[in-house]
Amino acid sequence: MTKPEKTRKTLTISRRPGPVADNPATEQKRQRTGARARQVAQLQREQGKRHTAQGLTDSRQRDIESSAEIIHSDPGPSHDSALHGGSNPDVADAPRIRRQTRAPRTRNTEVFRMFASCPQGLEEVLTIELQALGFDDAQAGRAGCHFHADWTGMQRANLYSRLATRILLQVAEGPARSEDDILELARSTPWERWFGPEQSLRVDTSAIRSPMQSLQYCNLRAKDGICDRLRDREGARPDIDTVRPDARVHLFLTEDSATLYLDTSGESLFKRGWRLDKGEAPIRENLAAGLLALSGWDPAAALLDPFCGSGTILIEAAWIALGVPAGIWRPFGFERLRNHDARHWRDLKDDARAHIRTQLESPLVGVDLDAQAIEAAKSNLERAWLTPDSIRFEVGDARNTAPPADSGWIVTNPPYGQRLDTDDTDMWRAWSQALKRDFTDWQVDIITSDLSLPQKLRLKPLRRHPLYNGALDCRLFSFEMVKAGYRS
Ligand SMILES: C[S@@+](CC[C@H](N)C(=O)[O-])C[C@H]1O[C@@H](n2cnc3c(N)ncnc32)[C@H](O)[C@@H]1O
Repeated sequence: MTKPEKTRKTLTISRRPGPVADNPATEQKRQRTGARARQVAQLQREQGKRHTAQGLTDSRQRDIESSAEIIHSDPGPSHDSALHGGSNPDVADAPRIRRQTRAPRTRNTEVFRMFASCPQGLEEVLTIELQALGFDDAQAGRAGCHFHADWTGMQRANLYSRLATRILLQVAEGPARSEDDILELARSTPWERWFGPEQSLRVDTSAIRSPMQSLQYCNLRAKDGICDRLRDREGARPDIDTVRPDARVHLFLTEDSATLYLDTSGESLFKRGWRLDKGEAPIRENLAAGLLALSGWDPAAALLDPFCGSGTILIEAAWIALGVPAGIWRPFGFERLRNHDARHWRDLKDDARAHIRTQLESPLVGVDLDAQAIEAAKSNLERAWLTPDSIRFEVGDARNTAPPADSGWIVTNPPYGQRLDTDDTDMWRAWSQALKRDFTDWQVDIITSDLSLPQKLRLKPLRRHPLYNGALDCRLFSFEMVKAGYRS
């Protein structure tokens, strides 16, 4: 990524916002409850708000404007009317997740079975996100979501999903009772459609209740099947590259079946492209976006992370509020496959850029005891192309942090687990006193693996949502800070 310019200004919006189009929340026919209701409400608020404070760097603004120009001057045949609004100022201010009720029109209209993987606990909010992106048949599965999409839809899922870890395209499925079945399945799959000997390859295998003796051997059989097929058809085998492969294939085994997926994402989608400084125990970007979705944070309301570390939750929040597509500044695996239509992909990205807002409405504030963590957060902010004034990061103690607004959300990932010492009951008591004293009318959402945290805080959670942070079994505890009735 090019380095941002050193001098920046806060931007002001120059265009009158147009009417809100295609709001998915208003289209909901059923009464939503729980996480679904909060996520739908968040999408509704995200899409209904206009922003009037600080935001993207001016170099990014130029990037956005020049992208919009490309759309005006170059409306080629591969432009899809459902996706392009660059010539219409009203549409240019439309919501960042625009619901599509039909698949985008492309040259190739073949529809594929897809699986979007995600951290466990985010399945429901991921399903809602994919439905809001127009994948109406999205259905939650284990650690992910099933849906159907054409090639353009696959690209859009990669570009826009904030919650998915990978977008996998199913290429083959069959019974698998022995390793030879895997070899045969891989051999009979037309890999040459997507890659050939000129691409390097990596194969990964995962399984649930598979009777196979060795997953490593299954992995080898799948790889052999792919390489045999390409050698027979094209005269050479692809090289194996486990570090930076051009093509990635996932083999998934159950007790009696094997499924082969083409990994269209490449690097995991939580890698947005801005993180260099990791801080002490950073949360992954898609989990941070998931916490915001589960909390129901209103992007027009104040957000405070009093244990912000390297700033992940707040940077994700700024991108949500500005409508910056999660993958807009990173490469994807599908770009390295055969027959990649670079022009069509550029058009999709130009369209996405044209809908990015440049201003934030509400205060986003991050506090951390550790000055190095705050430095890391500021560097990450810069690399995420956000102006220094878009998020206020400061060294401080959560116990003495004043609320930046009369009401809002605290969404935070305080110290817990093995990596950080949490044996500090005085700390939790003091923070809890500060919350009760100063944060009336705030909602507080805390992810922790310490299931006794509510007792330590002497607060009764409104909700507890199970989810995983890596291998750590966690809960997202939600508390509503009202004046009375919260002491357990
Ligand atoms: C789990 S880390 C947060 C990581 C963060 N979510 C990220 O993605 O980088 C917890 C942070 O809490 C900070 N911390 C610990 N005690 C604190 C306190 N009393 N006030 C403010 N920050 C504190 C630590 O310095 C650490 O950076």
